[in-house]
Amino acid sequence: MLLEIEDLSVSYRNDEGEVNPAAIDVNLTLDRGEVLGIVGESGSGKSTVSMSVARLLPSPPAFYPKGRILFDGTDMLTLPLPELRKIRGRRIGVIFQDPMGSLSPLHRIGDQLVETILLHEKMAKPAARAMALEWLGKVGIPDPAVRARAYPHELSGGMQQRVMIAMGLMLGPDLVIADEPTTALDVTIQAQVLRLMRDLHQANSGVLLITHDLGVVSQMATKLAVMKDGRVIETSSDPAAFFAAPKHPYAQGLVREARRMELK
Ligand SMILES: Nc1ncnc2c1ncn2[C@@H]1O[C@H](COP(=O)(O)OP(=O)(O)O)[C@@H](O)[C@H]1O
Ligand SMILES: [Mg+2]
Repeated sequence: MLLEIEDLSVSYRNDEGEVNPAAIDVNLTLDRGEVLGIVGESGSGKSTVSMSVARLLPSPPAFYPKGRILFDGTDMLTLPLPELRKIRGRRIGVIFQDPMGSLSPLHRIGDQLVETILLHEKMAKPAARAMALEWLGKVGIPDPAVRARAYPHELSGGMQQRVMIAMGLMLGPDLVIADEPTTALDVTIQAQVLRLMRDLHQANSGVLLITHDLGVVSQMATKLAVMKDGRVIETSSDPAAFFAAPKHPYAQGLVREARRMELK
């Protein structure tokens, strides 16, 4: 199994010492070739769980009272930092909601891609540069050689998100974590960006796709989990069957609401 989340609980401790349990007893699995969609309203714990997998939550305030996150058999929660860094970016690719949060505003996008490649691959700089340009082309950025010299703020939101996708996928990660990858984008380009993600990730990798948009899940996911108040309240390995007949009353409400929005 590529990813096994076992009895995972994650809490945040604030300055007053109060503890906010954000994920409670979460059990999820993801195999190669699968796309696991995690859905749920804002604040239900989706990002807490997905960022825990790459150990990207600042700790403190986050801490892990309980559970294990096995990535290809390795427990991410106890992995020493140097090994964690080797896995992140290389074997686990992360695509965030907000590209500006993870692209550096101070460096040209081409340089950022090259730097990431060189961090993980034994490759000469010209080869890394060629690879970066190739990926800018793959994600649909016109004139890669010219655009590579741009700073992130010189690109539109959609173009920034394409750069993030190149960054997340170019090293061929075994696991891709995409946390609301299209939420910040114009509806007209959301579908394009999702299609890119679907087409460019390796077929034998696993994808953890976080969204509050059930439409996205129905298009992309091979299995799904519904979260509410930090807990997984329903899972399904057959999204079509789930949409036809969700079991949990809360999930029924979500599906009804999504249908209503679709009809608008
Ligand atoms: N850095 C943080 N410090 C304290 N509480 C946080 C932090 N990040 C998230 N939370 C809390 O954890 C809960 C789950 O949040 P989150 O995982 O971001 O949900 P989602 O991604 O589903 O919107 C919320 O109550 C949120 O306020
Ligand atoms: Mg979130």
